[in-house]
Amino acid sequence: MIDLAGKKAVILGGRTGLLGQSLTEKLQDHKVITVPLSRKDFDPSNMDSLAALLERENPDFIFNTVAYTMVDQAEDEENNAHLLNTTLPVTIGRLAKQCNCKLIHYSTDFVFDGKKDSPYTEEDKTNPQSVYGSTKLDGEEKLLDLNYDNILIIRTAWLFGPNKTNFVHKILNFARERESLSVVHDQTGSPTYTPDLAEYTIALIKNEAAGVFNVVNSGKASWCELATEAVNCSAINCRVDAVPTSAYPTKAKRPPYSVLDTSKFTEVTGITPRPWVQAMRDYIYNDLKNHPEDR
Ligand SMILES: NC(=O)c1ccc[n+]([C@@H]2O[C@H](COP(=O)([O-])OP(=O)(O)OC[C@H]3O[C@@H](n4cnc5c(N)ncnc54)[C@H](OP(=O)(O)O)[C@@H]3O)[C@@H](O)[C@H]2O)c1
Repeated sequence: MIDLAGKKAVILGGRTGLLGQSLTEKLQDHKVITVPLSRKDFDPSNMDSLAALLERENPDFIFNTVAYTMVDQAEDEENNAHLLNTTLPVTIGRLAKQCNCKLIHYSTDFVFDGKKDSPYTEEDKTNPQSVYGSTKLDGEEKLLDLNYDNILIIRTAWLFGPNKTNFVHKILNFARERESLSVVHDQTGSPTYTPDLAEYTIALIKNEAAGVFNVVNSGKASWCELATEAVNCSAINCRVDAVPTSAYPTKAKRPPYSVLDTSKFTEVTGITPRPWVQAMRDYIYNDLKNHPEDR
């Protein structure tokens, strides 16, 4: 097991990103020296500026949480999505290889088409249905093509957590203002709490894991079930109605089923991810309660 205390980590997206901020906090808990960066600190299209930054910081680890995550908008902005989801990770991968540091990169359940009805393993066939999903998959594949052993790619899904708005946060704000909400019930996935994902990432690093891993909380839900649980847990008096995807046509096609199997993660770390329902209680009872300004 690697001892992380005193090691240095550059976290792209660590200052403003949903996952990046949780990663920064958890790494600091593990006594890692953190360099969280936002879009003000680097230009994703400029390899020289990234190279200079990494040379200056000389980190042991680079975490890349930067991504073009606006799934529908990506359909109209393929070039921007490609830049952030494919070109940027590969650039960082090359630089990590040059400076012999470990790269931890995040990917998505949207690399799958959702036609399965049992959890997707790392070995399952990918078939993205959207620009977001294809550009993220290209990023994964081109990183693996670098043939550098020190790359960890984590596929995750349906993130919620402190410090930045997210699906659960938005639902709770709507629910406080309305008598009822209609939420899609025919897409099922793996809701995941960002502080848990950060802690599980650290466990993989400590175990020197490399390659592709699924990392999500356990359990599954539809968007409607996730919203219902959040509203009930917050004791808000708002009815949540289940509707089909066809009630809210979107530009990008989403997988109807994208639950991720985490057996490989458990095999390597000995950890079984806790249920998302339990993590949601931490989010609502601790994060949102202690930081009402985040509401
Ligand atoms: N969110 C989810 O539900 C979800 C699901 C599956 C996989 N993932 C993956 O998990 C990772 C983290 O997701 P997240 O939700 O934490 O991401 P996020 O908060 O939407 O964004 C991450 C970071 O990317 C930065 N960024 C966006 N556009 C940029 C640009 N043009 N130039 C420089 N920086 C830019 C953001 O900066 P600003 O804050 O300044 O915009 C932010 O710091 C990503 O790889 C994502 O694909 C997320």
